[in-house]
Amino acid sequence: MSADICKILGIEYPIFMGAMTLVSESSLVAAVSNAGGLGIFATGDAAQKGGIEWARAEIKKIKSMTDKPFGVNVALFMKNVPEIIDAVCEEGVKVITTGGGNPAPYMGQLKSAGVKVIPVVPTVKAAVKMEAMGADMVVAEGTESGGFIGKITSSVLIPQVTAAVKIPVIAAGGFATGRGLAAARAMGASGIQMGTRFMVCKECTLPQVYKQAIIDQGPTDAIVEGLSIPKAAPHRSMRTPAAEALIAYEASSEANPKDYNKQFFAGRVETTGNFDKAILGMGQVAGLIHEELSASEIIQGIMKEYRETLEELKSL
Ligand SMILES: Cc1cc2nc3c(=O)[nH]c(=O)nc-3n(C[C@H](O)[C@H](O)[C@H](O)COP(=O)(O)O)c2cc1C
Repeated sequence: MSADICKILGIEYPIFMGAMTLVSESSLVAAVSNAGGLGIFATGDAAQKGGIEWARAEIKKIKSMTDKPFGVNVALFMKNVPEIIDAVCEEGVKVITTGGGNPAPYMGQLKSAGVKVIPVVPTVKAAVKMEAMGADMVVAEGTESGGFIGKITSSVLIPQVTAAVKIPVIAAGGFATGRGLAAARAMGASGIQMGTRFMVCKECTLPQVYKQAIIDQGPTDAIVEGLSIPKAAPHRSMRTPAAEALIAYEASSEANPKDYNKQFFAGRVETTGNFDKAILGMGQVAGLIHEELSASEIIQGIMKEYRETLEELKSL
């Protein structure tokens, strides 16, 4: 059953901006939180940006830009996880979302600091495990999403997760509209997490060429790398020459994991505006994104359409 996550988290609307490595930094996080949603800062790029000092400085910057709750995301396979957890606890961050591993070793520390722990899960099994471990909520992310992906679609994953756990579930993967929020809530979720929609946001510092690509590209342009490399994590990106070349490389006879990773990460760090060389996460939901808006316009537009949808459904 859906729960009042706004009350639990002290936010105004049940809308999270999912962490996006190299995208969800201070200006976007603060803008989403100031607009009444939950902005989530991605620490996945800490290694490229100057390590834990950079991450801590960004957290302080966000605190100087908003007095509203915001979250920090950590990929649990990274080297500097303990330092990031310390920074989250010491800086009074209210929410942590986790991915790529088991948050159990940090649960006690986070709980004592009053941080809500919200793992991102791609399967029902993982959701049940995280609930047993003491997670406060889970984000159930369908394969439509941008970035690293699981295998199950949102429409199949979300109702199974909401049936399997008692903690609140946030639906992610393919959401960008008020109709989507209504559908997520009908499936038992308490709110939505969006990534791709917030890339095309005025407060997002991505170069315009990428925002325009999301507007111009449709759902079938959200292509997936890593499907045929052993142990690679599949990743959904916008259609760029580098992403297409990587997929062609995977299919070739000389493909090997080491070179695949080298090419993948070279493209992933390209966020300076060199479209041809970039491998930048983008979800199938690009097909529903037609203009650049401010964080507040995005959230207000979704809430308006959500309320209209509920009215419309009453008369059916
Ligand atoms: C460019 C990009 C980078 C992402 N980086 C991360 C990340 O660092 N950590 C994480 O947990 N999720 C990451 N995600 C997933 C988002 O947080 C979010 O769950 C996802 O985008 C939701 O699907 P949507 O793109 O259909 O809205 C990323 C997504 C994108 C598009």
